[in-house]
Amino acid sequence: MNRQDRVFYRDWRKAYPVVERGEGIYLYDTQGKKYMDASGGPFVVNIGHGVTEVIEAMERQARKVCFPYAGHFASEAQVELADEVIQFAPQGMSRVYFVSGGSEAIEVALKIARQYHVERGDPSRTKIIGRWQGYHGATLAALSMGGHTHYRKDYLPYMLNFPHVDAPYCYRCRLGREYPSCGILCAHELEKAIIDEGKESIAAFISEPVTGSSLGAVAPPAEYFPAIREICDRYGILLIIDEVITGFGRTGKNFGIEHWGVAPDLIVTGKGISSGYTPLGATIIHEKVYEAFTRSKRSTFFLGYTYGGNPLSCAVGLSVLRYLKKNGLVDRAAKMGAYLFRQFESLKKIPIVGDIRGKGLLLSVELVQDSQKTPFPRSRKVAESIVRKAFEQGVILLAGHGLQDGVVGDLLMLAPPFIIKEEEIDQVYGILEKLIEEAADRRGNS
Ligand SMILES: Cc1ncc(COP(=O)(O)O)c(C=O)c1O
Repeated sequence: MNRQDRVFYRDWRKAYPVVERGEGIYLYDTQGKKYMDASGGPFVVNIGHGVTEVIEAMERQARKVCFPYAGHFASEAQVELADEVIQFAPQGMSRVYFVSGGSEAIEVALKIARQYHVERGDPSRTKIIGRWQGYHGATLAALSMGGHTHYRKDYLPYMLNFPHVDAPYCYRCRLGREYPSCGILCAHELEKAIIDEGKESIAAFISEPVTGSSLGAVAPPAEYFPAIREICDRYGILLIIDEVITGFGRTGKNFGIEHWGVAPDLIVTGKGISSGYTPLGATIIHEKVYEAFTRSKRSTFFLGYTYGGNPLSCAVGLSVLRYLKKNGLVDRAAKMGAYLFRQFESLKKIPIVGDIRGKGLLLSVELVQDSQKTPFPRSRKVAESIVRKAFEQGVILLAGHGLQDGVVGDLLMLAPPFIIKEEEIDQVYGILEKLIEEAADRRGNS
């Protein structure tokens, strides 16, 4: 344990085990303990740890060159990765801006959206409409677009004045409706927000296709994104889809938005693009948006990021994407995801399991006190306690909270590497079932 060292840790009271190595879906600490990485870290490790081909690609690139400044040189690795990402992305996407992670890619999307309108002579369009309980990263503009009140609260004085609408969270509809009789009111709330804010002031709408840990793998009804696309088009607003978690196969399709057959104007990615082998993120730009820049009198505006597009990360991204394609891992995510959901459905027999949802290999379990969906008090830290015990037993999961109001409402999340086997899913199920049952018993005793 590393209590005496000089690192400022995320939790400065916690004694973290020291990781030594990773192999497949497993991590090992320096004490020799083995952990199944059933969450892929925070939804990152799509292809598994320690893949030789990726490590060799990294070494080959490192021996050639690691860092030329992007203001001075192009690189083969960046050109090839952009090419393959565009082939892998939904139709119409035509350019890629590489950065070092999801939050940076979000900031780039914001600037491109704003600049698109400036280039078209519409400079009053400045605001991005986000969704309550959305999460787009930790930087201040990303937090401003996000809607997780708990993450935002200490930094509210720094938040940009961006409006938010409700997410399509049917299990606890904040508009008090029920699907399908609601007529997807939550999508139509976007139009209301645009009109209320002043349609000439809105640059873009941002949304995850399937939400991450701030709302727990909520996938909207079939009509949601087509309605959102139509509203965005009607008001000349760009649609930014945040695929930082869902991109590169996590939901069983190349990109999550493909489940809804909708073409975004900007796609933001990170995490799985490099499967965690190096820091890498990207903003993928539709030809319609790029065209506005090609018509401009100037040829640059300030985006920045020293490490953006560095050949080492791009060579890794290229190797990860080729590995994903060569091994048919997106189809495997769909197939293993179907198995995961079939198995986990049985958790519903435990009274504190309120909902099980998600897509592909992204699954969330919402925990409640009773059939009225009463959330557990925050002081109980029910999800965190289950995740801590699973970790002790060698299974890594994620906990979240804030489903009801940004504070209360517990959830557990799984996002294993796509190479997970059926018997390993069964093993996670067995451990989790027991831990949730114990939590349900404690609820009875408290
Ligand atoms: C949906 C989503 N968008 C953006 C981000 C930010 O990515 P990063 O942490 O790489 O900056 C995250 C991170 O968890 C995320 O889940």
